[in-house]
Amino acid sequence: MEREINGELLNIPEHVAIIMDGNGRWAKKRLMPRNFGHAEGAKAIERACENADELGIKYLTVYAFSTENWKRSVEEVTGIMNIFRKYLVDSIERSNRENMRVRIIGKRDGLPEDIIEKINNLEKETAKNTGLQFSVAINYGGRDELTRAVRSIAENYKNNELDIEDITEELISKRLDTRELPDPDLLIRTSGEFRTSNFLPWQIAYSEFYFTDILWPDFDMDALVDAVRYYNKRERRFGGVR
Ligand code: IPE
Ligand code: IPE
Ligand code: MG
Repeated sequence: MEREINGELLNIPEHVAIIMDGNGRWAKKRLMPRNFGHAEGAKAIERACENADELGIKYLTVYAFSTENWKRSVEEVTGIMNIFRKYLVDSIERSNRENMRVRIIGKRDGLPEDIIEKINNLEKETAKNTGLQFSVAINYGGRDELTRAVRSIAENYKNNELDIEDITEELISKRLDTRELPDPDLLIRTSGEFRTSNFLPWQIAYSEFYFTDILWPDFDMDALVDAVRYYNKRERRFGGVR
């Protein structure tokens, strides 16, 4: 989809995925505890949703907590879980006002029971919304997602519910948490790190990657437009020749 942004014609990616990194460093620079950075990062998520919607991005998927992030201190993990608790409840009304549908991807197993309930409720309450399709990865790891997919396929095979020939790329995609989403066109990572840290390994096979030094709590409309502008300079070939 093409959109005019401040007099500039830009091709808008349909699906943008973001590795929201740098909350801790943002707080440290201000001599504040890491959880202060996470609280500010949560505000940046709301802003990113509004900005993505305004640009005409249809799908936005953000990495909020990885299966590896449990390695952090109890204090930090508790702080992050409390931010989720508040976010999952508060965003129902806001999402419905903005016609935004929210999905949570990642492993439910291992999350506190009340958070699982809040996730189910938020997903149910926003399921009919047709505007921005927003997904938050919580307790998400790409290898874990693929492992769960392989297990579910093996289970079907064992029960004679499918043949080896039925196992195709499409079938695997349909067993992932992202089964209802197209693959990301653009992957953004903030905070100057150049790695994907187990985020959507299957889905980003042909995504364009954009890295910025901006720390996540500072990520704003200008930063998002810069990423889209970069995306516009890329020539996507998908293995073919242009
Ligand atoms: C990203 O910020 C948020 C989560 C991983 C939960 P970090 O907490 O990783 O911030 P840095 O990388 O330490 O600055
Ligand atoms: C990736 O950030 C995970 C999220 C943004 C939720 P990390 O800060 O956990 O990644 P590493 O440890 O730098 O690879
Ligand atoms: Mg980090």
